[in-house]
Amino acid sequence: MSQLSVQHLLGIKHLNKADIDLIFKTADHFKEVINRSIKKVPSLRDITIANIFFENSTRTKLSFELAEKRLSADVINFSASQSSVKKGETLIDTVNNILSMKVDIIVMRHPNVGACDFLSNHVNAKIINAGDGTHEHPTQALLDSYSIREKLGSVTGKKVLIVGDILHSRVALSNIYALKLQGAEIKVCGPKTLIPKYIESLGVSIEYDIKKALDWCDVANVLRVQNERMEINYFPSTREYSQLFGINKKLLNSLDKKIVIMHPGPINRGVEISSDVADSDQSIILNQVENGVAIRMAVIYLLAQQIKQ
Ligand code: CP
Repeated sequence: MSQLSVQHLLGIKHLNKADIDLIFKTADHFKEVINRSIKKVPSLRDITIANIFFENSTRTKLSFELAEKRLSADVINFSASQSSVKKGETLIDTVNNILSMKVDIIVMRHPNVGACDFLSNHVNAKIINAGDGTHEHPTQALLDSYSIREKLGSVTGKKVLIVGDILHSRVALSNIYALKLQGAEIKVCGPKTLIPKYIESLGVSIEYDIKKALDWCDVANVLRVQNERMEINYFPSTREYSQLFGINKKLLNSLDKKIVIMHPGPINRGVEISSDVADSDQSIILNQVENGVAIRMAVIYLLAQQIKQ
């Protein structure tokens, strides 16, 4: 198979295993390209991409922009805070105005769940979800699995722990879908109030004791507490959270194996992860960021092939 089964990348939920294999195979090629002295290929010289971000981003925005430029696409960037959205323009009007400038692909981050699905039904362009509220962040999950595959040889059969604020995390949900498709075992750990009730229906188990959870896993993906999405207090204090669920060197040294540590960023050092863990040789956090460019090049390239046909 050399084509994705989907017309847009709205979420991992819509992909199958063959899609993930194709994205990884394509990313392998682009990873080799971006490590050459000439890091650019002319593949998308005839494609224009708009990155429209209605929420803050460092990694995802820069990574998409770099991926697009490495593929030689024309790129425009739109930030909601500096736009006419502030004057009351609707999402569809905003996007249709951008599309009238002959844009082919929209990469969008939006605070509302389902915003990318909605857009894909109302505008004539390829849509890539760069994070929609607490729902999905598909390219993050792809780069996370790709990084596990790179580090451990395969995702199949690996025991992956997701620690932290599962309730508000689009990274957790997309990772669960992606890891399941590839045959990994998944456990979540965090305060009871931050574990959604439906989680076990996704084939995921729960462990509230962080030591037991770490003893079980090969890989721990540590998530930030998303205070910006919380309207109530979900745990008594940051200090208590850190004591009960924070990953520190003492905890890792108490295990009888060396597990892999991941984090999608941004990191809150000293809260969910200590600096001596984030910066240790067990951490692949910066490899995740590096792999993000190759994964995003692969996704954009594969969707653009459908436009060219
Ligand atoms: N991982 C991630 O989505 O980071 P940003 O919010 O900085 O894009």
